[in-house]
Amino acid sequence: MDDATHDTARPLDVAAVEAAVASLALGHPLIYHQAITSTNTEAMTLARAGAAEGTLVTTDDQTAGRGRMGRAWMALPNEQLALSLLLYPSFPPHYLVMASALAVAEAIEAATELRPGIKWPNDVLVEGRKVCGILIETSAAIAVLGIGINVNGSLAGHPELAARAITLADALGHPVAREPLLIELLHRLDGLYATLQRGGEQARRQLREAWRARLVTLGQHVIVQQVGHALAGTATDVDESGALILRADDGTRQTINWGDVE
Ligand code: BTN
Repeated sequence: MDDATHDTARPLDVAAVEAAVASLALGHPLIYHQAITSTNTEAMTLARAGAAEGTLVTTDDQTAGRGRMGRAWMALPNEQLALSLLLYPSFPPHYLVMASALAVAEAIEAATELRPGIKWPNDVLVEGRKVCGILIETSAAIAVLGIGINVNGSLAGHPELAARAITLADALGHPVAREPLLIELLHRLDGLYATLQRGGEQARRQLREAWRARLVTLGQHVIVQQVGHALAGTATDVDESGALILRADDGTRQTINWGDVE
């Protein structure tokens, strides 16, 4: 780690974030832990105890971060963004998948000179490698939106991970201030979420189109991994609900609602 990167490895300036999101519906109360097992687990516990919509749980060190399909999510202490938002969406969950990936991609683009793409359904990529993972967990009316962004530091010491993931700092060649990125992200999520909660076909269509325009998966030959099952084919499009349309190698047309794309 070089000196410039090391300078950024300090705790998040929580007061600055709180002040900048005070007018939003999402982002407060802001519950910060220097270290915690998983912000998603904590947010779900708070939800079950009656916490308000918009509650944000964030940490500088996630000791048991969880990813999709039962995987672990590695922490970059004091260098990542790891956050969970408590939501009560009145719209179908696939719009939250699209809105969250789009908000992250747009926030990174606004805060840096990078132009991220989205790997279906909601991985955010820079230079073809993952900079952000999103884990949405639901229980009855509750939705916990968990977002992990590799901001600073380097994955060079983790060759297996570095083959498919990258930090923003490694992509840019310099560190990135985490607070402005988090503030930008919360503003974008707040706007998209409010629009979706109001309802309306046009807003949903616009969101889907903006998300679709960032999908790097379309036109690619892919392998879709599902638990205990894999399917190979060409990703041709997404349908109205965001499901992936695959022209499978056996010639059949498949609609994939969930899974991991390689
Ligand atoms: C994935 O790509 O597999 C999803 C990774 C999601 C990681 C974030 S970090 C904040 C939140 N808390 C968790 O335990 N996971 C999510």
